[in-house]
Amino acid sequence: MFERLEPVVPDPILGLMAAYRADPDPRKVDLGIGVDRDEHGETPVLASVRQAENALLSRQTTKAYVGPAGNAGFNQAIEQLVLGAAHPALTAGRVRSVQTPGGCGALRLGAELIRAVAPHAVVHVSTPTWANHAPLLSGSGLKLERYPYHDPATGGVQFGAMMQALEALPLRAVVLLHASCHNPTGADLSHPQWREVLALVKRRQLLPFIDMAYQGLGDGLEADAFGLRLFCAELPEVLFAVSCSKNFGLYRERTGSLHLVSESTAAADAAFTQLVRIARGIWSMPPDHGAAIVHAILAEPALARQWGDEVDAMRWRIQGLRHDVLQQLQQHCPQRDFSFIATQRGMFSFLGISTAQVRALREHHHVYMTDDSRMNIAGLRGENLEYFARAVAQVLG
Ligand SMILES: Cc1ncc(COP(=O)(O)O)c(C=O)c1O
Repeated sequence: MFERLEPVVPDPILGLMAAYRADPDPRKVDLGIGVDRDEHGETPVLASVRQAENALLSRQTTKAYVGPAGNAGFNQAIEQLVLGAAHPALTAGRVRSVQTPGGCGALRLGAELIRAVAPHAVVHVSTPTWANHAPLLSGSGLKLERYPYHDPATGGVQFGAMMQALEALPLRAVVLLHASCHNPTGADLSHPQWREVLALVKRRQLLPFIDMAYQGLGDGLEADAFGLRLFCAELPEVLFAVSCSKNFGLYRERTGSLHLVSESTAAADAAFTQLVRIARGIWSMPPDHGAAIVHAILAEPALARQWGDEVDAMRWRIQGLRHDVLQQLQQHCPQRDFSFIATQRGMFSFLGISTAQVRALREHHHVYMTDDSRMNIAGLRGENLEYFARAVAQVLG
């Protein structure tokens, strides 16, 4: 059987990671994979995470199974973090949550639930969207289609075209939205735009599936949840996927959750049993460690404050880098307008250069970003900003 298997072309981001590691040049700059970095280019364990982890290890008495829905305390803490403690969907008992292996697990579980109810449903995703959305969502058997989103001319959202495309969708279609810090473009909806999309979603009875992977890294923990909170308050049904990989720095611990808002508590209860059934058939139970850490942090006010400060520091560093790299680019590439970099949010920006120019950056200047010119801003640091801007100037010619 295995002799019939053809090798798969490596995932471009993972291939880029390997090429970066193998490059011996000391000037190399990694703007590829989406992990946060500090001023030394490291991705350290957060102090709040370390503290919670130490306490957890010393008091943990068993490694017995937790259960397919995962850690109930974690699920509840994330509901409150994302929605806000007094959210009307929470007080009405309309939210159900399942802990998942990372945001990826949540996206897949959500897709499997949709397929179980509506096998021919189409999920509509932005152009472009995070590369892994396609295999995660279509792997469940759902079809994917695209709606316009990023405007290369301005670096912002092509809002008119997006609304026109969503307006034309069949009633009750599924629309995937990024809660904040859109990956890969960094272009987010404004608050008034979220309201306009909400009105359209109501009119067309669409099911929003919201991907929240960067809460706190755009404009803050509260501000980044604006659209998601609004949708969950105003709509009968919403699905949302949460990742703790970036804002808790728990990448390898595979920590996330899927949340379902339903019209009635009875429907929510039934849907929850379906989610548990599906999870049981894929990974059976999620890994415990990361969720136990997050729960320990959020359950202890002093630790939660410390974590909040660490998230603020991550966000401020990225915002500072956006500002500083823009200054360098303006100085070294005055013929080109990169001002969108400062207005975008989160780790990513599309630099808007050609694939040939991206490859020239890699080959001649040891600067690594994906071929579509998505760059992880957090991969820059004070000492390589000028080197980076000069390299871009050279490939632009
Ligand atoms: C948009 C988006 N969604 C979801 C995820 C899920 O991440 P993880 O499975 O590592 O929690 C990521 C990670 O890069 C992402 O960028």
